[in-house]
Amino acid sequence: MKVLILGSGGREHALAWKIAQSPKCDKLFIAPGNAGTAQVGINAPLNISDFKSIATFVLENQIDMVVVGSEAPLVEGIRDYFDAREDLSEVTLIGPSKAGALLEGSKDFAKDFMQKNAIPTAAYKTFTAGETLEGFRFLETMKPPYVLKADGLAAGKGVIICNKIEDARENLRQMLDDKKFGQASQKVVIEEFLDGIEVSVFVLTDGKSYLLLPEAKDYKRIGEGDTGPNTGGMGAVSPVPFADKAFMQKVEDRIIKPTILGLQKLNILYQGFVFFGLIKVGDEPFVIEYNCRLGDPESEVIIPRIKSDLTDLFAAVKHQKIHEYRVEFETSTATTVFLVSGGYPGDYQKGKEITGISETIGSLVFHAGTKSDGKKIVTDGGRVLAITSFGTGITEALAVSYKNAAVINFEGKYYRSDLGNDLL
Ligand code: AMP
Ligand code: GLY
Repeated sequence: MKVLILGSGGREHALAWKIAQSPKCDKLFIAPGNAGTAQVGINAPLNISDFKSIATFVLENQIDMVVVGSEAPLVEGIRDYFDAREDLSEVTLIGPSKAGALLEGSKDFAKDFMQKNAIPTAAYKTFTAGETLEGFRFLETMKPPYVLKADGLAAGKGVIICNKIEDARENLRQMLDDKKFGQASQKVVIEEFLDGIEVSVFVLTDGKSYLLLPEAKDYKRIGEGDTGPNTGGMGAVSPVPFADKAFMQKVEDRIIKPTILGLQKLNILYQGFVFFGLIKVGDEPFVIEYNCRLGDPESEVIIPRIKSDLTDLFAAVKHQKIHEYRVEFETSTATTVFLVSGGYPGDYQKGKEITGISETIGSLVFHAGTKSDGKKIVTDGGRVLAITSFGTGITEALAVSYKNAAVINFEGKYYRSDLGNDLL
């Protein structure tokens, strides 16, 4: 079969690396891809929001399966576009419809969905442009810290947490009145702050049943000790020791099952990944957010832990036969350490030559922001490379990732050296 993956990050390189190993896959394309995906498949220079061009590419290249890595095309309705075209009806597309992707595309929709399905989440209220004063009044009823969330997609910057009510008010005003995040902050969710430890849980669903995938912990802040601004993710660990059997049972019963049922109640045929961004408060799980795709950097640890053939699982999704499958996981620990460009998540330079990748030993090096200029590989983004390693525990796996993090070089290279410390 021929497979097309849409996206260009570390998640898509991990997916491509895995799918390329399937004996069922004879040709693999990644659009637009990066220097890493070009080593396991063929990069196709497509705009992933241009559905017509993607459809033409799929037909011309007789693609059987399209795996949508990133959220933007899903929120924009790529699945609805494929479903509406009879000439694409045989194609397996992994990713939900526009209605399903609202779980990620609209925080207000997600909160309302959770409330209606009694899924544990922070108490909240949504305010629309013109309701700034009502928002101020609601803030008065809350305790600090104050959590403000732009309703729509805001490139990971749409959540603002303030300690002082004055700052919360000013941010709310900027979001609603000044359209700080454009359309995305037409509505703002204000919610209760939950104090706990985060974990990312993933399922693959065919719309009827689901398969639970390995969980992971992501490290979002740029600085050591979880300080400084948020990033796309500086590294990840899987499995997560505190997500033990008892906790995961609560997650399945109180969160995953009601979510799958809730989507069915809305007649949303959801065929793809659901990413549950959870927080453990005491011993109880709460949902912080949903995403309609896999996480990045979580993918760089969970995909290497999946032993089963992903193309089989994806085919089962289309035919709603996922309940017949069991997935096998690597039980040892996987860790990934992201090397990022100096200055990220603020301004940074691109085009720096990367050396040493071929000298690494014992790790998988997944590319994110890289490109090849024909002769050498250069940096092309804030998050550059994810170095994934296995070990009998977090310490052992991380030691390998860190050893190789020192072997790879580019001007301005930075990484966090304290990953996993909070779990030991
Ligand atoms: P999100 O974009 O929804 O993932 O939010 C970004 C980050 O903000 C999350 O990963 C959490 O660390 C934090 N966050 C979001 N909502 C809450 C909340 N209600 N309580 C505490 N932290 C939160
Ligand atoms: N690691 C968080 C995300 O993919 O959104």
